[in-house]
Amino acid sequence: MQFTANSLEEHWMPFSGNRDFKEDPRLVVKSEGCYIWDHKGGKILDGSSGLFNVACGHGRAEIAEAVHQQLRTNDYSAPFQLGHPGSFQLAHEIAQFTPDGINHVFFVNSGSEPIDTALKIAMAYNNARGENSRMRFVSRERAYHGVNIGGVSLSGLVKNRDVFPLTMPYVVTMRHTWLPENRYKIGQGVHGGVELANDLERICQTYGGSTIAAVFVEPIAGSTGCLVPPEGYLERLRRICDQHGILLVFDEVICGFGRLGTPFGAQAFGVTPDIITMAKAMTNGAQPMGAVAVKDEIYDTVVNSAPDNAIEFFHGYTYSGHPAACAAGLATMEIYRKENLFERAGELSSYFLDAVFDLRDLEVVTDIRGYGLLAAIDVHMDGAPGRRGTALQKKLFWNGLHIKFTGDAGIIAPPLVADRGQLDELVAILRQTLEQETV
Ligand SMILES: Cc1ncc(COP(=O)(O)O)c(C=O)c1O
Repeated sequence: MQFTANSLEEHWMPFSGNRDFKEDPRLVVKSEGCYIWDHKGGKILDGSSGLFNVACGHGRAEIAEAVHQQLRTNDYSAPFQLGHPGSFQLAHEIAQFTPDGINHVFFVNSGSEPIDTALKIAMAYNNARGENSRMRFVSRERAYHGVNIGGVSLSGLVKNRDVFPLTMPYVVTMRHTWLPENRYKIGQGVHGGVELANDLERICQTYGGSTIAAVFVEPIAGSTGCLVPPEGYLERLRRICDQHGILLVFDEVICGFGRLGTPFGAQAFGVTPDIITMAKAMTNGAQPMGAVAVKDEIYDTVVNSAPDNAIEFFHGYTYSGHPAACAAGLATMEIYRKENLFERAGELSSYFLDAVFDLRDLEVVTDIRGYGLLAAIDVHMDGAPGRRGTALQKKLFWNGLHIKFTGDAGIIAPPLVADRGQLDELVAILRQTLEQETV
């Protein structure tokens, strides 16, 4: 299919080099299964599942049909003081996948909104339980929690913060979990887990544990390049949170819905948080949607503390639980169940990780990390941070592979439906492209 847009000028693209892109555009005009097609007719393997969200593969007819039917039946209903069946059904379905005791789901429309929503839930919960001194939030270096002001305040990627000085006060940051001793370790590193988690204990000693509302961490920091937590890290965070009455929030926007071979990262690592944020892969990318799932005790405390007939939580979006998004979500959950995709991801994981880690012999590669069907390859910086990564993302695309780079880390996350042949193809294109790089 030929490119037919009249002009590329007017659209200000997100997280993109607009000038560079518009000189040499990469437009996707078709997608099906594990592949996308560009405007010149090239077929490209989608090695990052879009942006880690198209877990069931592109073009799922069941989802398209469900959305179509929903829009024909009830295209929209106001979500405040009114409901529609789909959001209740989807919340019920999601609660089947969340850990025991996390059964209440608040819907939003992206992966950034659940972060700001979770911040407000933590505040509302502490207010309801009479712990208003808990004003501080703890997050981590190299974290990515989306682009809204709450999420940016918690994030630790410098480029996402440095021109936006007006972020939330009272955010304290722990170290990230990448350690040189754990380089090239498949799965969890053995070094430093407890020591890194003890940053939280030190913060509690410095500020007082009773001043901290919540700790936000991604089970695996995804967007920064798949930083797998070392052994013992999440367990230790959980213990410290329990000792000080601090809420533990897992931002599972990338880890959720099978990416790690289990419904959520919580189950993969055997650590149960108090709040889970989720978004990607909820609707297989077909509709914008996200959610916050909370422990029953949090829901009960907030809801029961308000007077009868009053609104309990002053928060929500015009499109919270949109009927079309719920229909897409329900169809997606059904695919996960019918095709056992979470288990499938777990079964494919060692084949996938072995193949990706085989690239360690390449001169340009400086580290590889991975867990489940998520991996990242670090490449040598070329003059300035991110220059080689950006160039590589383009080269790979024209060589037939889509991989999302953050800085100089390429993040690999094939659809959970990919077969071994497609994983071989992915690694072969990576090898051909990376071996051309000189350091
Ligand atoms: C862990 C995490 N949280 C939040 C977000 C923000 O999601 P969105 O881009 O849908 O707003 C992302 C996006 O990559 C993410 O990886």
